[in-house]
Amino acid sequence: MALTVEVVDDPARACAAIMVGAAAASGHVVLTGGSTPRAAYQEFVGAVRKVGLDVNGATFWFGDERCVPPDDERSNFRMAKESLFDPLVDGEPVLDVRRMRGELGPFDGADAYERELRDAGEPRFDLLLLGIGPDGHTASLFPDQETLAERMRLVVGVPEAGLEPFVPRVSLTLRALGTAEHVVFLATGSAKADAVAAAFGDAAKPDPHVPASMVPPLCDRVTVLLDQEAAERL
Ligand code: 6PG
Repeated sequence: MALTVEVVDDPARACAAIMVGAAAASGHVVLTGGSTPRAAYQEFVGAVRKVGLDVNGATFWFGDERCVPPDDERSNFRMAKESLFDPLVDGEPVLDVRRMRGELGPFDGADAYERELRDAGEPRFDLLLLGIGPDGHTASLFPDQETLAERMRLVVGVPEAGLEPFVPRVSLTLRALGTAEHVVFLATGSAKADAVAAAFGDAAKPDPHVPASMVPPLCDRVTVLLDQEAAERL
């Protein structure tokens, strides 16, 4: 396992550069939700347009989703659609996007995505983006929940979110996260500093109380992109 922590002026731009590499190689790219990645997705669109990159060979998956309709303001798909898919294709849906159908509910939604991953041959994710919550959660794997112990399934239902929005979720499992070629965590702001230190600091160890800390030991390559504020407790 190679863990690299990078403190940069513009984590969104750094993340977009990594995304360009994976998309250019027609890779399987797993998108993260929340608010932080929006800027990275916008930077990615700008970079793709600037170089005239053809990303139609890439496949876009999701790491987790809220159990809301896809046009709900809390939907991770809606955030990606607004910031990445629509601007990239000017409304023409030519990208290969594998949406998590959170509207089915946590368990049916998880079963549906599990089937889709297995029907696709359980692709090795070339790039998997993750965020981290102030509580140390990542994807929708929340502290001390049973979902952290799941080792057979690739996708689980999360009946109770540990942080807002308090709606049920669908999430990739640690097993699925660990199959990725390259995991990139993106975190900004001082509100994440304690969680970042607990997950990626020198004294960090895999701890169910800090789910993000459980990811690096499972992966070949992990990059943590931070701004100064998110890194201030390292
Ligand atoms: C979600 C995300 C979640 C997110 C963190 C950070 O569905 O909420 O997948 O894991 O990455 O909560 O969210 P922010 O970027 O909004 O701080």
